[in-house]
Formats: sequence, structure tokens, C-alpha cells
Amino acid sequence: MSVTNRPRPGPSAASTADTAPKPAAARHVAIIMDGNGRWAAARKLPRVAGHREGARAVRRTIEAAIGSGVGWLTLYAFSSENWRRPVTEILDLTGLLRQYLRSELEELKANGVRLRVIGDLQRFDPDIRRDLEAAEHATGGNARLNLTIALSYGSRDEIVAAARAIAEAAVAGALDPAALDEARFASFLATAGMPDPDLVIRTSGEQRLSNFLLWQAAYAEFVFLDVLWPDFGAEHFEAALGEYARRERRFGARPV
Ligand code: FPP
Repeated sequence: MSVTNRPRPGPSAASTADTAPKPAAARHVAIIMDGNGRWAAARKLPRVAGHREGARAVRRTIEAAIGSGVGWLTLYAFSSENWRRPVTEILDLTGLLRQYLRSELEELKANGVRLRVIGDLQRFDPDIRRDLEAAEHATGGNARLNLTIALSYGSRDEIVAAARAIAEAAVAGALDPAALDEARFASFLATAGMPDPDLVIRTSGEQRLSNFLLWQAAYAEFVFLDVLWPDFGAEHFEAALGEYARRERRFGARPV
């Protein structure tokens, strides 16, 4: 594996010692899981084989997140644009999701994982929605790892929905437009109550955000990995955390 972000030119070791902010551990890691199809194609297998192996990588990643003490993990599993894929692939993906929820729920509960889902769930079959709700409910008391799965998720849709809800609240007299600030705006997003991601990882060598957490990732660090998602494991997760820890985050401020 290689971390494809070029290291940033930083201050010399001598000047770093006193002045640079101490690297904090990433609290929230968000991942764009990419490359299932290419993994399958390289093996002359159907795409579903890549997705199946991708589901195993999801399991490994959750274990790695728990092992490294990251409190929040958000996985981009199905974008609003993914509905444009062939029906057979959508059925494969939704079938895998169904299977995943049924086979992993006990494990999630036993490991203290709280599951949340963000996205337009109305587009899924009622049985999947019921399973998702049941899993959210069954894990609602857990706090070791906050796992969010983005399903039928699109960040622009999410922002437009927030703007619409804010406009409706203003028209109803429940919200004073002059009192709207970033925190209030964020409370209308699907991620209300969650910390912003500190680190966004994308696998497969692509370097795009693809409509994922556009608002929330405003100050995130990005790590792009030359590894296809089905091959992703604890070593890649740890390497990305290490890369994050080496960076200096200033949130737009000048170094002191
Ligand atoms: C991107 O690879 C991956 C997806 C669109 C689906 C992600 C799904 C999983 C990891 C498995 C199921 C998930 C859960 C939560 C059980 P791609 O198909 O776009 O790959 P390509 O770019 O190489 O074609």
C-alpha cells in the first residue's frame, strides 16, 4: 500500500518542537470505499464478488477502528448516484446489506458499536428499512464506536433538505433567520450531533469527494490510498491514522 498524498512541506524539526500544534488523534474517520468492481475485474470475477469481499473489509475496518480507539467511523456504502447502476448490481448490493445486517448485528452489539444510518432510506425496500431501524434501535445504547453507514446518501441533497427545513421553520416563525449560524445550520443536517470527520480516506487511487460529507469535511485531512477496498485492512487504517497524526492542522489560522 502507498499513501498517495504528497507529504506537505512542514517546518524543520528544530522549529517544530516548540511551535507546531501537537498532533491529536483522529476522533472521526470517514471512508469512501472504492474499488470493489476493479478488484473483481482483476480476478475475472463478477462485480458482486468484489462487493462481497468489500463487506468483509467493512468488518475488518470496524475491528480496526475499535482497536485503535477511534470513536466515530462513517462509511460511504451507497451514494444517491449509485441508483443509476444496473438493476442487477443494485439487487446484489441491497442483498449484501440485508445479509450483513442479519449476520453482524450480534457482533456489533457485543462490541459496543452504535449503528446509525444517513441517507434517503425511503428508496430502499421496506424490509431493509425495518432491519436498519431495528439495528439502530438495538445498538442505540452503545458508545464504544459510533458507526454511521451512508446509504442512498448525497451531500448536496442533504444540504438542500436542511435549507428547505430551515426555510420552513423561518416561514412558520420558529426560527429567526438572523440567528442562523453554522452550528444551527449543522443541526438540520443528517449528521446533527456528530463531530465533523477529522480524516477522510478514499481507497482505489481516486482523489474525489464524490458528494460525500461536503459540509462536514470542510476541515478534514484527506488520505488517498492506492489499495482497492476489498484489500483494505487494519494495516491501511493504521497507516492513514499515522499520516493524519503527522500533519499539522491549523483550521485556517497562521502558525503561532
Ligand atoms: C465502490 O466500488 C463500492 C460501492 C459502490 C459499494 C460499497 C459496498 C460495500 C463495501 C459492500 C457492502 C457494504 C456494507 C455496509 C455491507 P465500485 O463498485 O464503484 O468499484 P469500481 O470503482 O472499481 O467499479
